[in-house]
Amino acid sequence: MCRCALPSDPPVETIHTIAWMKQVAREARAKERILGFVPTMGALHEGHLSLIREAQKGCSPVVASIFVNPTQFGPTEDFQKYPRTLEADRAVLEGLGVEYLFHPSREEMYPNSFRTSVSVEALGERLEGRSRPGHFRGVTTVVLKFFEIIQPRFAFFGRKDAQQARIIRQMAGDLNSDAQIVVCPIVREQDGLALSSRNAYLSEAERRAATALYEGLDALRKDVDSGTLDAARLLTELRRVMDARAGVAIEYTEIVDAETFEPVVSLRRTCYALVAALVGKTRLIDNALIEQDGESFRVTL
Ligand code: PAF
Repeated sequence: MCRCALPSDPPVETIHTIAWMKQVAREARAKERILGFVPTMGALHEGHLSLIREAQKGCSPVVASIFVNPTQFGPTEDFQKYPRTLEADRAVLEGLGVEYLFHPSREEMYPNSFRTSVSVEALGERLEGRSRPGHFRGVTTVVLKFFEIIQPRFAFFGRKDAQQARIIRQMAGDLNSDAQIVVCPIVREQDGLALSSRNAYLSEAERRAATALYEGLDALRKDVDSGTLDAARLLTELRRVMDARAGVAIEYTEIVDAETFEPVVSLRRTCYALVAALVGKTRLIDNALIEQDGESFRVTL
């Protein structure tokens, strides 16, 4: 559960400028402190808080950022209506004892003179990359800017965005960033729905239907537990469960190799089962991690 700030909690220091953020990070590094970074777009939920708690286990100080990054939204996407709940978020960060909140303006991050972007080849072209052209270029560009500004030792991302986390790990390695990428488990509601800031868009009926993504993945888990390795068979059952729910339009279901994000014919090493669907007008994604365990496979939702 997240708790709100108490009067005794030390205030989180909110930093608006890159120069100030760089200065604070430089001072922390000079004192050999282990800087942990949790990038977010705000509207904080338990999923974000789990990243912060994980960061706090090994890092001090922890910097959380809140920046609704315009470059990762397509022209028809929800940039304008994306939930912005800064005061509530700040109280939550205070309650957790986060030292720094980096909250730059759009102009600070992308002045009119801004011209550069970074993109990771191949990994970002399928799945989310195909459904959301330009999305990953926006993500990697803003994350690289954050890494340059903050130079964290560890940066924390959620496994719900598994393709994003894989792409960021590739970028950090390719560009020799010192940031180690830590990928944290998915946090779910009691009925299995993966936490997402976009869940706030769902009507009551849509919220009920949205569990179809989890239920499809859970059906896949049961099939893997009973020995099915064939990807097509696993996906047929997953889609059958999801299709049975009115109001859920599947966009893709795939089982991919966790390194290449290319589809597999049969389970091998480590894979992800990935789903994306529209529930009403809200686009949701979810996944299951499938890991080889001797002769069999273990599925983590
Ligand atoms: O996962 C997110 O919330 C965003 O893509 C991120 C990593 C904060 C970049 O804007």
